[in-house]
Amino acid sequence: MKIAVFPGDGIGPEVTAEAVRVLETLDLPGLTLFEGDVGAAAYRRHGHPLPEETLTMAREADAVLFGAVGDPSCDNLPRGHRPEQAVLGLRSQLGLFANLRPATMFEGLEDASALRPEIAREIDLLIVRELNGDVYFGEKGTHTLPDGQREGWDRMAYSAGEVRRIAHTAFRAAQTRSKRLTSVDKANVLETSQLWRDVVIEVAAEYPDVTLDHLYVDNAAMQLVRAPGQFDTIVTGNLFGDILSDQASMCVGSIGLLPSASLGERETQHGIFGLYEPIHGSAPDIAGQGKANPLAAILSAAMMLRHSFGRAQDADRIESAVARVLADGVRGFDLGGEAGTRDLGDAVLARL
Ligand code: IPM
Ligand code: MG
Repeated sequence: MKIAVFPGDGIGPEVTAEAVRVLETLDLPGLTLFEGDVGAAAYRRHGHPLPEETLTMAREADAVLFGAVGDPSCDNLPRGHRPEQAVLGLRSQLGLFANLRPATMFEGLEDASALRPEIAREIDLLIVRELNGDVYFGEKGTHTLPDGQREGWDRMAYSAGEVRRIAHTAFRAAQTRSKRLTSVDKANVLETSQLWRDVVIEVAAEYPDVTLDHLYVDNAAMQLVRAPGQFDTIVTGNLFGDILSDQASMCVGSIGLLPSASLGERETQHGIFGLYEPIHGSAPDIAGQGKANPLAAILSAAMMLRHSFGRAQDADRIESAVARVLADGVRGFDLGGEAGTRDLGDAVLARL
């Protein structure tokens, strides 16, 4: 079990350390951890947010445990040198096109949600976000218009093949859940989205057991706070998935609770190669204070065991330990409590 650990910036190292402690507590055969530099930390040390040696380390591992990247001191660097390029580069260069972002209500957290408890209680959804295309990876630039103004532009595009492969991932995921899939697009305005919708409908023919519907992204954002219980599996593009997953996290109570898995096609001995990271960012405002919630990172490690190592039972154990921590009322600062990063790690270990 070769795991490359890339803690990154801000609270990344603190939360990743707790996830590593959890992995080390389980009796995992042949567990080997390597640590690599990413983000602003890597830029400072190697002059690049995703150094070649980090990429090589990821390629040689069965899975990557990723913290967070982002640092305000880098906001004025050329885009190619900004910390975010580390995670974008790993996603694209390793072909990790399928991003799974589950959002489930934890028992006892209903009152922490931004929604009313009776509405929040219903949340049990999975966002399948496409991760290698869209406006994220299109050509981009800035230039000066004839009238002297500057103009910034980013090309948004999806090929049929890119849509087809993420649609298959989403339909298969829906089959393991309650067999309802919602595809989110903006087909009333964007050609990219019309193609997306057409291809998703074509792929649906291969999954007659899954009920498919379509929502425009503005309506989806509204429905997600109005009645999130209506959603089971959601499939959407890179940009819409980025936005809707942050929104879903506050419906659950805190962005410090949502894990993610980014998967491609490379197989490992017992599963599939993946990169696992909390959906939150580097939170520079609280970095180094021991206040960050490590539960999203710990839940990301659980997803890793399930998808890359075929260890569903260990993943279940971690997930139930986290659920019990929250049910027992142990809460971090993000949820109005006083448990620090390390305390939350200890609480999970105790229940394991
Ligand atoms: C996420 C993050 C990233 C994204 C950033 C850090 C590039 O917001 O994983 O959701 O936009 O995908
Ligand atoms: Mg995001």
